[in-house]
Amino acid sequence: MAVCGLFEDGESGFGKASFTVDSNLSLSSFVAYPLAPSTTFLELQSTPEKETDEVKWLYCDDKGNARTEDMPYFKWKGKLRPHKISHQEKLYRGMRKVPDTVVKAEWWETSRPLAEERARQQRVADELPQKEIEKLRKACVIGRGAIDCVVRAIRPGVTPEALDVLCHDYICDKNAYPSPLNYYCFPKSCCISVNEVICHGIPDCRPLEEGDIVNIDVTAFFGGYHGDLNETVFVGSSGDEGDNAEKPDSEEVADGVDDSSKKEAFKLLKCAYECLADGMSIVKPDTRYRDIGEKVSAVASKYNCSVVKTYCGHGIGKHFHCFPNVPHYKGNKAAGAMKPGHAFTIEPMINLGKEWRDELWPDGWTAVTKDGSLSAQYEHTMVCTTDGVDVLTKRNKNSPRVFPFTEYEDTGDDDDKEEGADKEKVVAELEELVNEFNTKL
Ligand code: MF3
Ligand code: CO
Ligand code: CO
Repeated sequence: MAVCGLFEDGESGFGKASFTVDSNLSLSSFVAYPLAPSTTFLELQSTPEKETDEVKWLYCDDKGNARTEDMPYFKWKGKLRPHKISHQEKLYRGMRKVPDTVVKAEWWETSRPLAEERARQQRVADELPQKEIEKLRKACVIGRGAIDCVVRAIRPGVTPEALDVLCHDYICDKNAYPSPLNYYCFPKSCCISVNEVICHGIPDCRPLEEGDIVNIDVTAFFGGYHGDLNETVFVGSSGDEGDNAEKPDSEEVADGVDDSSKKEAFKLLKCAYECLADGMSIVKPDTRYRDIGEKVSAVASKYNCSVVKTYCGHGIGKHFHCFPNVPHYKGNKAAGAMKPGHAFTIEPMINLGKEWRDELWPDGWTAVTKDGSLSAQYEHTMVCTTDGVDVLTKRNKNSPRVFPFTEYEDTGDDDDKEEGADKEKVVAELEELVNEFNTKL
C-alpha cells in the first residue's frame, strides 16, 4: 500500500515524497504535513485486538531472541509497562521486510556485527578524508529526514509501532538500511523510549499519551556508512487541528496535563539538550574524549539532574559502534583525543533527580531508570574538523518546529556545506535556542 507524505518540501499540504509500506502492516491512510488532522491517519491495520493471519502480536523476550504470549514478571519501577510488538509470521524472524535492492548491514541475517566487534578491540579511530566524510554525511541526512518524518507524526494516540513503520519505510525508500534492525536481535528499525525508558525502547503498541516524553533514535546505513541521531519530544495535545510541530509555545501544549509534571518534563528536555550542546562546544583537535563528560555533568548538576553512566557516545562510520567510547559523566577515564576526521556521537542520557542508575526490563533491551523517574536524550553524529565540529545530523530548514526546538541548526543554503559548519556559529545558535527556551519555561 502506498503511503504519501510531505517530508521533503515544507510548503504545502501534500508531499511529493511517496513510499511504500509493506502490505502486512500498513498504515490505514497517509500522513500529511504540516497538518495531519487526526490520529486515524496513523492507525495500524493489524493491532493486538485485530490480529491477522500474517501478523501476530507478542511480547519481546530474551534480548530479542524470543517472543511470548504473556507479559513477563518484573518489579516495575515507574508506570510504564511493556506492550506487544508485531510479528510477521511469514517473514524472517518476524521482522519487517527490507527491499532486495537495499544493501543490508552485516547483521541483517546473522544478528551479529562481526566486523565491528573486531574493530572494537582497536584503540584507534579512523581519520576520514573529506570524500569519506561526504559519504557519512549522506547516511546522516537520510537519518535526519527519517527522524523529522517520525517527529511530525508524534501526537497522542499514535503508537510507537506506527512510528517505526514510518521510519522503516522512509529509510528503505531512500535505499538505505535501518541499522537497528536485527542488530544483536533488536526486533525493530528504530528505538523509541517513552518516559522512564532511558534508551533502547522497542517500538510497541502502547498509544502515546498527552504529557509523555518520547525519544526517537534513528540510524541509517547508506553507502557503507551509519548516521545516528536522536531527539526527545513532549507529546502535546493536538486536538484535531494539527500536530505539536505547529505549537512550540509551552502555554498551548498538553492542556489537561498537570502543570508541575509538565514543568518537570520541560526542564528535563532543556537540560538534556543543553548537555548535548555544551558537550559539542569543545569538539576540536586535541580535546580529550574524557572531557566531554565534564561539560555534560556540569550542565546536569545545574538542573539537579543526573547523567547515566552505563551507555555512552561512540565512534561511528563504517561501523555502527566503534572506538572511541564517549562517556557523558565526570571523572570518566575514556581513552584518546580528537583529531580532524574523527567521526563520533555525543548522546547524553539525563535522568530527572539524583538517581543515575538504570536497569533492564526482561526483554533484555529496554533500559529504564532505577527509580522510575523520567529520562531524556539528544544525539548527533559529528566529525572533528581542523578548527571545530561539523554536525552531520544537524537540523535543516524543513525540520519540524517541534517543542523545544526552533530552527536553531538551520543552515539551508549550500555555501554552508562547502564551508563546513563553523563551531562558533553552531554554538551561538544552540545558546540562542536555550535562551529562548528559558523565557518560555
Ligand atoms: N542508536 C543507538 C545509539 O545511539 C543504538 C541502538 S542499538 C539498537 O547508539 F540495537 F538498540 F538499535
Ligand atoms: Co542513536
Ligand atoms: Co549512538
